[in-house]
Amino acid sequence: MNILSPSILSADFGRLREQIQGLKDGGAQCVHFDVMDGHFVKEISFGEPVLRDVRKMTDLDLDVHLMVTNPEEHISRFAQGGADIITFHYEVMPGGNGAYGGTRDPEQAAAEVQRLAEEIHYLGLKAGVSLKPRTPVEEMAALMPHIDLILVMSVEPGFGGQKYMPQSTERIRALRALADQYNPALHIEVDGGIKLDNVREVLDAGADMIVAGSAVLGGDDVREKTQSFMEALA
Ligand code: DX5
Ligand code: ZN
Repeated sequence: MNILSPSILSADFGRLREQIQGLKDGGAQCVHFDVMDGHFVKEISFGEPVLRDVRKMTDLDLDVHLMVTNPEEHISRFAQGGADIITFHYEVMPGGNGAYGGTRDPEQAAAEVQRLAEEIHYLGLKAGVSLKPRTPVEEMAALMPHIDLILVMSVEPGFGGQKYMPQSTERIRALRALADQYNPALHIEVDGGIKLDNVREVLDAGADMIVAGSAVLGGDDVREKTQSFMEALA
């Protein structure tokens, strides 16, 4: 069953309750919650106080995407705030940012991922790891047995409304092949530039969880847009 997780980064915060109800009425299963700290990405979005309010508005699963440099500091607070899924970035693990000119030590990064994933599981939540577009997918094999989902960024993390990076499709295909070997139950979530005209491409490549922000929450017809995406995901 494919999952839609619309990102409230694109929502009208003056009408958040109404728009989240539209997601529910349209059949979405999750709300994607893009947390940005102004360091891992230059933008700042919102944090745990807003999550607490969203938690009170809906019973949809809250899919928290931590675009922060220090996720280990935030896991328990976002769990208390009502998260159902917490995803953190591979690139901020010790040894995990080789693609960005830092130290590259896959064993060290995998050990830290396992440690954080165990903490998230202990709190009763699902654990995810997210990859920026230039981070090699091969290193994910060692992590897969310890996590529930991999979140593939198909834009450079930051603001919503960017264009889908086409090389992401092959990355999704490669990750699905690795997951078939190392954790067949692994969800592959895609985040960034997903529209009705490219969602089939990413599903066919092996994604089964779709983040969509501006394509669903950019206007006034949230329920209808959500319904259209759910039809495409069927
Ligand atoms: C980027 C954000 C966006 C957002 C989705 O860091 O994470 O990808 O979730 O925005 P759209 O669907 O508008 O690209
Ligand atoms: Zn996201």
